[in-house]
Amino acid sequence: KRTKDCYIRRIVYILGSDRFLISLSYFFSAFPGSRSAFSIALNNNSAMVSYGPFSSDSIIKYKHVFINLGDGYNVETGIFTVPRSGVYSLSVTVYSSARVTLSNCVTLQVNGENVAEAIERSGQDLEDSTSVVVAVQLNAGDQLSARLLQGCSLSDDINHYNTFTGFLVTLGVCVFAQGCLGGPRTDPITSRVAFSFSLFSDENFKCYGPFSEMNKIVIYKNAFLNLGGAYNMNTGVFTVPFSGVYSLAVTIFSDAGSPGNMLAACANLQVNNKVMARAKEFNTNDQEDSATIVVAMHLKVGDMVTVTLSSGCYLCDESYYNTFSGFLLYVTE
Ligand SMILES: *[C@@H]1O[C@H](CO)[C@@H](O)[C@H](O)[C@H]1NC(C)=O
Repeated sequence: KRTKDCYIRRIVYILGSDRFLISLSYFFSAFPGSRSAFSIALNNNSAMVSYGPFSSDSIIKYKHVFINLGDGYNVETGIFTVPRSGVYSLSVTVYSSARVTLSNCVTLQVNGENVAEAIERSGQDLEDSTSVVVAVQLNAGDQLSARLLQGCSLSDDINHYNTFTGFLVTLGVCVFAQGCLGGPRTDPITSRVAFSFSLFSDENFKCYGPFSEMNKIVIYKNAFLNLGGAYNMNTGVFTVPFSGVYSLAVTIFSDAGSPGNMLAACANLQVNNKVMARAKEFNTNDQEDSATIVVAMHLKVGDMVTVTLSSGCYLCDESYYNTFSGFLLYVTE
């Protein structure tokens, strides 16, 4: 009887462990019904054509489909209807050339609410491109779209300068209810890690920096998502809770006030105080500029990930132009 109890306890422990639940979630993700991914481009024209400007904000109808796994994207309406609840990685890249009005300004919306924006206006240059990448928690049935703001326009051809991509990262279903299987760490939520923040928690225009110190940590205050609670909103540090491969993305935006002023939109992505990647738009031609870093990195438990500003750099925001996002892709130990 004792031995039997012991076996049962051991099986219950294994079933309740994070490792098992993570394996299970990858196992389930192998089924077609658990997969959701789309990647689309504006058109497939041989000649460059402009899209917009329109007299009101309008959903961008991307016509060229690279992938539409799960059939969530409707090419007629331009709307992606979320087939399964979970954390999604979303990215939009926009481009416009001076052959049309130079102003690309796109917002990413869930059920009509902005979650991110890709903006480059009032430029003195001939072409501009920018990207935004965020991770958001979406529910089945949510409607996702990229909208072109009134008066803005995009340019594209067969080179696919304008793309919109999303994929399901972690399922939102709890495979087993918390505590139902015993063991010390039974909550599958603790094994999920995903965060996405924007710089300010209100919509009044202001800037962060410039600072005289060398590597001033940018503290993002507005949480879209902090699954696992590993991003600290007081220190600006994301402390890695599980060793694994992580996707990290930083989008920066700055506004010099007027063309001719020094626009110093520049930031560093650091791991344990070492610069891993940089984004920079340093010039006096543009009033506004935006740039994005997206990397996948192998991080160890306890590693500290930050976005920092070198001296002189500054970021400005009035909405959701500056974002910092990351999520665990694969657990490695
Ligand atoms: C895109 O255009 C190219 C060149 O005309 C053509 O070969 C390709 O089949 C087109 N793709 C689609 C999906 O229409």
